[in-house]
Amino acid sequence: CGIVAYTGHKEAYPIIIKGLKRLEYRGYDSTGVALLNGGLNVYKKKGKVSDLEAHLKDVHLAGNIGIGHTRWATHGAPNDVNAHPHYSSDKKLAIIHNGIIENYSVIKQDLINKGHIFLSETDSEVLIHFIEDIQVHANCSLEEAVRLALQKVVGAYAIVIMSEDNPRRLIAARKGSPLVIGVGKDEYFLASDATPIIEYTKEVIYLDDHHIAVIANNHLSIKSLEDIPIIPYVHTLELELESIEKGGYEHFMLKEIFEQPKSVKDSMRGRINAHKGHILLGGLREYINKLTQAQRIIILGCGTSWHAGLVAEYVFEELARIPVEVEYASEFRYRNPIINEGDVVIAISQSGETADTLAAIELAKSKGAIIFGVCNVVGSSIPRATHAGAYTHAGPEIGVASTKAFTAQVTVLTMMAIVVAKTKGTISDSLYRELLYALEAIPDQIQKTLNNHSQIKYISSIFRDARNFLYLGRGYNFPVALEGALKLKEISYIHAEGYPAAEMKHGPIALIDEEMPVVFIATQDSSYEKVVSNIQEVRARKGRVIAVVTEGDKLIKQMAEFVIEIPATHEALVPLLSVIPLQLLSYYIAVMRGCNVDQPRNLAKSVTVE
Ligand code: G6P
Repeated sequence: CGIVAYTGHKEAYPIIIKGLKRLEYRGYDSTGVALLNGGLNVYKKKGKVSDLEAHLKDVHLAGNIGIGHTRWATHGAPNDVNAHPHYSSDKKLAIIHNGIIENYSVIKQDLINKGHIFLSETDSEVLIHFIEDIQVHANCSLEEAVRLALQKVVGAYAIVIMSEDNPRRLIAARKGSPLVIGVGKDEYFLASDATPIIEYTKEVIYLDDHHIAVIANNHLSIKSLEDIPIIPYVHTLELELESIEKGGYEHFMLKEIFEQPKSVKDSMRGRINAHKGHILLGGLREYINKLTQAQRIIILGCGTSWHAGLVAEYVFEELARIPVEVEYASEFRYRNPIINEGDVVIAISQSGETADTLAAIELAKSKGAIIFGVCNVVGSSIPRATHAGAYTHAGPEIGVASTKAFTAQVTVLTMMAIVVAKTKGTISDSLYRELLYALEAIPDQIQKTLNNHSQIKYISSIFRDARNFLYLGRGYNFPVALEGALKLKEISYIHAEGYPAAEMKHGPIALIDEEMPVVFIATQDSSYEKVVSNIQEVRARKGRVIAVVTEGDKLIKQMAEFVIEIPATHEALVPLLSVIPLQLLSYYIAVMRGCNVDQPRNLAKSVTVE
């Protein structure tokens, strides 16, 4: 979910609506706003921010203070009633909440016994009634009631509360879900990330877990749940407004796909110089020995980040000769994992906020592991929870389907593996040089691959009505097959499976008939001949083959219905190129099917619930 709040001298509603639109990638099931205009009024609606806006177009919405929310449903279906903000029972308080209150049903039952009536099925409504109940019974201030309530709450939250009785006050708190405070001139902004804030101010405070912020009469104070005052640290954002706008592209996803020559270059910028034979990741320096001496590396992530982890497994094992395990953060955290001395964890996350990844990090830390983060969003929770790490510097990724974040993650992880391999001496000097030059060439090669977009658009038009897709690859291209399938599922709702090409004969081959498109990632690497045989097996069963091949490949051209060429590079870097046509394929197919590419149904970009 995304939350935005404002207090100051400007009109709150336009700022909140604009901010919610920027946060829509975090959820878009329903939207709501609360304003103080002759009373505390809540306006909410199932659907996107624009649906609420249309619904309110004739309503007078003045007021200099307000809160707004865009929801990704956890408790209760997405509808008008379950949309945020939620009122207390006297309707004098309103709350917006991102996260999950795990013990809400016990609290709810207790409140029902006391006579509270709930309108929605949400845990968030329970929280605001709980705060109200404490305030009445303890006869204390609202701040104090919030603090006491949060001490009893189990779960994750970022909340903002406003009150009719205190027309110039907002109370916010966080645990596990992000909250940024923008400090303007006599005005304050609160939001789930900095994007709703940057056009007004670049001065921000990242609220920490277990902290409560009170903004009253234009004064900010922060304290801990234990009532200890905290001195806030003000950061200056480096984000530019144009980086979060579409800049002429039809969708954010398309913009982000086409930005990859630049984003990959940005993730290498200042870190690599092939000519001088240099590679350096400053954020790792302090703990680099832990990484080079690691007995084992455990990589954690979810979704696309997990796929980047799988690529890294191949790269680290091949170059640095360290055994690697790649784990879904959500599985790792619930199975009492074994962490030995000398194990190192690398956590990968675009947003830096994914709840499962964050919890897995905390678990690994409690077992004594050294944790490295590979994240995109500067200042987010995961980089703050890790010992060391490297930012991917891909710039804000807004399309829900991850594209440029993936290539940036793979770039940074590959650089990490090269640094370790060089230090350990597991690669020769010539291979080291070759890899650095090959990495430096990647941005131009991505550009060359993107230049093929009209061919990929044409192929998309042929297969737009397919009901299933199979993606097959081996070695470094196996994770790319998984990623290609995930992209298609996410945004076009076509069922797609990614598989190691050789495993096809143990199951998926049964699915192949003359209607089944099979995408092979069949570049000229160490498994090329094997993949060629797998293509033959599909052809023999009349499957329709689309192959991503190395430039100049003649053999596969004779077998496949369509071939898409990518430039030749070192085998370990192929995923950075081979994933590009698959991103475009899924994009064009989804557009042709009339799907909402940037906001696919049911998904959210940043999943801050487990
Ligand atoms: C969500 C997004 C995916 C993303 C995953 C992990 O499911 O829709 O695109 O890969 O979360 O997110 P993270 O921010 O941790 O990389």
